[in-house]
Amino acid sequence: MIGLRRVGPDEFTTRLDAVLEIYIAAMNPPVDQLPGRKTIMGNHAVHPGFTCLFAERPDGTPVGLAYGFHGAAGQWWHDVVHRAIAERNGEGSARGWLGDALELAEIHVHPDYHGKGIGRALVVGMCAGRPERTAVLSTRDQPTAARHLYRSVGFVDLLTQFVFPGGYERYAILGAVLPLRG
Ligand SMILES: CC(C)(COP(=O)(O)OP(=O)(O)OC[C@H]1O[C@@H](n2cnc3c(N)ncnc32)[C@H](O)[C@@H]1OP(=O)(O)O)[C@@H](O)C(=O)NCCC(=O)NCCS
Repeated sequence: MIGLRRVGPDEFTTRLDAVLEIYIAAMNPPVDQLPGRKTIMGNHAVHPGFTCLFAERPDGTPVGLAYGFHGAAGQWWHDVVHRAIAERNGEGSARGWLGDALELAEIHVHPDYHGKGIGRALVVGMCAGRPERTAVLSTRDQPTAARHLYRSVGFVDLLTQFVFPGGYERYAILGAVLPLRG
C-alpha cells in the first residue's frame, strides 16, 4: 500500500538524496548532471509556495515524488518559458498562462511502481486546493506515459519541440487551468 504525504521545504531539503535516487531511477540521467541537478532542486525549495508530495511505502521509503512552487519573474524556467511563449503566441498568452501559475518542477515514480496510479495521484494531489489560476510544466516531447497522463487531466500543449537554452532535448511546455478537470 502506497500513501501520499505532503512535506515542506525543510524535510524536502534534508531528504534530497532520497529524492535524487528516485529521479535517477525514473529518468536515468547522465551521471555528470547529478550534482547540478541536486543544487537546482535544493534551490527550488526556497521558492514561494513550495510544496512536495512523497509517495511512500508503509515503512516510509519514498517510491515517488512530485514538487512545485509558485512561478515568478526571476526564476530561470519561468523567464525562459515566458519569453518563448510571448515570442510565439504573444505577451497576453504568456501572461495568461504564467502570470499566476503553479510550476510543477518534478514528478517521478520509481519504475518498480509504475502503472499503479501513483503518478496520477501525485499530479492531482499537487494541483488540488492550489490558489493559482493555472499549472504549467515541461516534459520531454515524446509519446511517454507522462505526456498521456498530463493530457488526461486537462493539460494542453503551449509549446512543442522546445529546446531550453544550453540543452539539446526537445520538450513540450504544457499548461492546465486549475482546478484540474475530473
Ligand atoms: C510519468 C510517471 C510519473 C507516471 O507514473 P505512474 O505511477 O506510472 O503513472 P500512473 O500509474 O498514474 O499511469 C499514468 C498513465 O500513463 C499510462 N501509461 C503508462 N505507460 C505509458 C506509455 N509508455 N505511453 C503512454 N501511456 C502510458 C498509463 O496507462 C496511465 O494512463 P491511464 O490511467 O489512462 O491508463 C512515470 O512514468 C515516471 O516516473 N516516468 C519517468 C519520469 C518522467 O517522465 N517524469 C515526468 C517528467 S515531467
